[in-house]
Amino acid sequence: MLGSLLELYTDPRLFFEKLQRNYGDIVRFKMANFDSIAIFDPELIGEVFVSKHQDYVKNRVFWDNVKEVFGNGLLTNEGQPWKKQRKLASPSFRPKSVATYIDSMITLSNAEVATWSDGSKIDVHEKMMGLTANIISKIIFNTTTGDKGKLLLDTITELEHLIPLRLKRLHPIIHRLPLRTNRRYKHLIETLESEIMAFIHDAQESDSDYPTLLSNLMNAKYEDGSTMGEKQLRDEVMTVFLAGHDTTAITLSATFYLLSQHPDIETQMVTEIQQVLSDGPLSAEHIERLVFTKKVIKESMRLMPAIWAVGREAICDTQLGPYKITKGTTIYISTYLMQRLSKYFDNPEQFNPARWTDEFTANLPKHVYSPFGGGPRICIGEHLSMLEAMIILVNVYKTVTLTYEDSEPPEYFAGPVLTPKNGMPMRVSKRDIATTRAR
Ligand code: HEM
Repeated sequence: MLGSLLELYTDPRLFFEKLQRNYGDIVRFKMANFDSIAIFDPELIGEVFVSKHQDYVKNRVFWDNVKEVFGNGLLTNEGQPWKKQRKLASPSFRPKSVATYIDSMITLSNAEVATWSDGSKIDVHEKMMGLTANIISKIIFNTTTGDKGKLLLDTITELEHLIPLRLKRLHPIIHRLPLRTNRRYKHLIETLESEIMAFIHDAQESDSDYPTLLSNLMNAKYEDGSTMGEKQLRDEVMTVFLAGHDTTAITLSATFYLLSQHPDIETQMVTEIQQVLSDGPLSAEHIERLVFTKKVIKESMRLMPAIWAVGREAICDTQLGPYKITKGTTIYISTYLMQRLSKYFDNPEQFNPARWTDEFTANLPKHVYSPFGGGPRICIGEHLSMLEAMIILVNVYKTVTLTYEDSEPPEYFAGPVLTPKNGMPMRVSKRDIATTRAR
């Protein structure tokens, strides 16, 4: 009756690894009563993401469970309504628009690092969650989360822990029973919604002409000249707020950990940062010169992609490579596993940013490395998050070095995103800008 449901949700990364190792690049399995297929072949992934994307929607077995959170925002919307929204929102995420947020990202990340005292032990994951929430809030509303920050983050964290529990339920009717977890889930969504709506209303009443993401979305016009209604605006803002911070926070805390385990790589990165910043504080113009630093983030996202798997559901009978796929089949693509296959990466478990030479990148088959997904539904925030991650990484390492002191590596929980189970406690050592660490 359960098929592979429990195994999948107990340790999904291990589950997909076992499937690929034992059965190859395309594997059929049952998840409760859902026909499911896992694919590990970049050409097949390309068919699902790109060439036959119209035969699929987001996997309802997951997304139906979180519809109350995201409503009909970009992550969950489908078909023509999704296309219309994506077209409307896209200009706000283009490099030129995103560049207007660089100063805020720099100021907020500098202010955060300034609060870290020399010798203290801090949970850098929690700090990154707070910082990225502040940054996305500034970008959307032109205000930081302020006193509401902790409430928002606690609510989101609890929601993320409740979602896997809901996914294990055999029938959606269980979501409607008067269970404690259902009442709590509803309460958390209401809390989040009322806070986000208060931000929207404050921003709507503000007479500032600072171009926020909210004002861009509010002023954007559909082809017939109309603008987005309030409910759609709520769904888009909620989606961008949620999708737009924890993924970047996860990337950063994983990068801090990986760097702490590879002092030679950290030194190489810090040297680059010092050379590039020798002419003054970080500004937009420095970013494209930080070539190695960018590779550090890229490699960290290879080993620890925040979205560790994506899913689709066939909405018609279709063909995948030589195989017939029946309507209703769920397709799983594990980015986490694809990005660790020895077929494509030498020493795949090794953190090695230097592997990302131009030649290596050009020869890597498309869709092997896809931390932001692929095809028309590729992450709309890719450019924004890369820029933000670069800025934060630079502002942290130009000032401090972080040491992971626990003897065991951090444990991760593969919920909707890959989250460090017990945070990421690290020791702060202030760095003199002119000296790299000698260890
Ligand atoms: C390191 C950071 C990030 C990672 C790893 C990431 C990853 C992803 C992935 C894998 C998808 C595709 C999901 C699928 O196809 O099922 C996606 C979609 C999306 N992401 Fe991101 N994301 C990141 C940051 C952001 C940011 C900063 C924002 C917004 C500010 C954002 C907003 C979205 C939205 C709205 C979608 C849905 C796009 C659509 O379907 O049209 N993401 N993201």
